[in-house]
Amino acid sequence: MIDQTALPARFAYVSYTSPEQVATAIRTMVVRGAPAIGVAAAMGMALAAQRSKANRLPDLIRDMEASATLLRSTRPTAVNLFWGIDRVMRKAKASSSAREAKDSVVDEVRAMEDEDVEANMKLGKYGADLIEDGDTVLTQCNAGALATVGYGTALGVVRAAVQQGKFVKVLVPETRPALQGARLTAFELSRDQIPCTLIADTAVGHMMSLGRVDKVVVGADRITRDGFVFNKIGTYQEAVLAKRHGVPFYPAAPRSTFDLSRTHNQVTIEERGAEEVFEVRGRRIAPKGVPVANPAFDMTPPELVRSMITDRGLIRPPFASEIARLMS
Ligand code: MRU
Repeated sequence: MIDQTALPARFAYVSYTSPEQVATAIRTMVVRGAPAIGVAAAMGMALAAQRSKANRLPDLIRDMEASATLLRSTRPTAVNLFWGIDRVMRKAKASSSAREAKDSVVDEVRAMEDEDVEANMKLGKYGADLIEDGDTVLTQCNAGALATVGYGTALGVVRAAVQQGKFVKVLVPETRPALQGARLTAFELSRDQIPCTLIADTAVGHMMSLGRVDKVVVGADRITRDGFVFNKIGTYQEAVLAKRHGVPFYPAAPRSTFDLSRTHNQVTIEERGAEEVFEVRGRRIAPKGVPVANPAFDMTPPELVRSMITDRGLIRPPFASEIARLMS
């Protein structure tokens, strides 16, 4: 995988051979972004199967369960993580022997890779129809190729609109504290020669008040069955400001990001280390001992969402029943 912690200074691939290494890569955000985490965790599970010395299926399943527990503990909010792990576990359990399971889980992960790119391209097309020639799209964090297997969700919508011949500009908030906007989205868009402007997170309201934002398109880490959108911290304030200024707010996400088993009050929002806030790229910016809160995600209620862009089409209000209809 690409080491996302090194970007944009260094573009480097890293390889892992054990589920433990993959778990560390997810926890430390070498790989991040909900769909990328989901497929990486699935690969960690395939490694667990391949490395197991078990000859009997029940013993293999036991070894894989131990890795699943470790991988599940890495990050709590993106549902894709659990989706990826569960899908590989199900595949192994449906096999008739340990030998068969070891092969079939690798095939399953390869299929998941292909399906993710396909889903992004599909949702990109549905979303692109909402984008007009000349639009400036505000995003948050990085919901691009880096955050997925390829193409991206929110940035997939932008890419598809550009492919339709539309001129689209992207407004990229830096996305403190991990700076996925400044480091990753700006990198990805510049590489693809899609015009983008980096702004401080604190500039979002001002830009909207000047009429400089036509659409907000963001990714999602989990969309619950009652239509609440969990995404990178800062997304909620974009949604509130969008409502204030009459700007449509669209989350873009594949089926693997929908959690039909939970409502919004049953989701854990990850709290990350204080150093991410009191330091900027390793350098302390706040007095020693100051208390810090560092929620990594926030929750946008359905009433702030114009429609959801998915690989199965657009979901419009009322979200709870439409999610159930389209995603079941
Ligand atoms: O903490 P991160 O960088 O993993 O958070 C990523 C996001 O919040 C993305 O917007 C989301 O995962 C969607 S990525 C297609």
